[in-house]
Amino acid sequence: MSAAAKHTPLVLSGMQPTNTLHLGNYLGALKNWVRMQNEMPCLFCVVDMHALTQDSAYGKPADVMRATREVAAAYIAAGVDPKRTPIFNQSQVAEHAELAWVLNCVARLGWLDRMTQFKEKSGKHKERASVGLYTYPVLMAADILVYKATHVPVGDDQKQHLELARDIAQKFNNDFSAPDFFPLPEPVITGPGMRVMSLRDGTKKMSKTEESDNSRINLTDDADAIAQKIRKAKTDPHPLPADDKGFAGRPEAENLINIYAALAEEPVAKVIAQFAGQQFSGFKNALSDLAVAKLAPIAGEMRRLMDDPGEIDRILKTSAEKARAIAQPVLHEVKKLVGFVD
Ligand code: TRP
Repeated sequence: MSAAAKHTPLVLSGMQPTNTLHLGNYLGALKNWVRMQNEMPCLFCVVDMHALTQDSAYGKPADVMRATREVAAAYIAAGVDPKRTPIFNQSQVAEHAELAWVLNCVARLGWLDRMTQFKEKSGKHKERASVGLYTYPVLMAADILVYKATHVPVGDDQKQHLELARDIAQKFNNDFSAPDFFPLPEPVITGPGMRVMSLRDGTKKMSKTEESDNSRINLTDDADAIAQKIRKAKTDPHPLPADDKGFAGRPEAENLINIYAALAEEPVAKVIAQFAGQQFSGFKNALSDLAVAKLAPIAGEMRRLMDDPGEIDRILKTSAEKARAIAQPVLHEVKKLVGFVD
């Protein structure tokens, strides 16, 4: 029996409050979170402490606060139900930071030295990177373990960090003679390989950092913006293929069909069959109608919530209390195990 099996199933995930969320965040993550609420208890946090490791947020308090509310609004607008599922910002549950310190003493430098995301983000001048950026994955481990969460929906890019969280959990359990104290959290790789690619270049992931706003559909885009971006999306001169082999060398066609299938919640093969041999123009009209029908209500709900930040703040506050009620006893046990209290 795996260690996780001895623990009550609990899902935890989080997103950073940086720039606006886009279709990739929705189809790759949020849409799955909404579904998981029906399968297991979940906790979803807005990781504002992690955001401080980014230049775009550091030193910009108003931006961090606004983005925190906006990401919370996106969770709610996408269908996470705050009555069932706490939606809170990480900084308001101090137990994350307290556990992170203990876990900093568990994790080894050699483990963190292997983290590819730190290498990419710190670039050539590692000595100028913040210590926070370096120890970011340890805080992420604390986010998960402070609730003894067993399942963590993450994208491909976070798999290595989740492996590290498992290693830290295992070492803690061994070093403090507490077998099975922490579960070894399992990744839930979101979506059946759903990677939403840029609308301007089908070989690149849709990203909030790509310069052209036409490369992505933001969750805050209204119906006109959505329709226009799909109209302008890069394509090729050929009709749509009759099977998935026809996508070879046609990443844009594949991406648009995948987006259609994900939004329609239909198998890709069925969507391919539906549009086989057709021109992009007709397909784009159908995709545009579908995207507007699915996404414009989310944008509308986000706008409504952002116009009334009081409602968001109330949700964040009551959710943080619920989260703390789970985290406090775990942290208390940790304090006993390491010798801070007896
Ligand atoms: N590192 C994650 C990302 O950038 C965000 C994150 C922080 C997270 N803590 C987490 C995700 C805990 C899952 C669980 O995507």
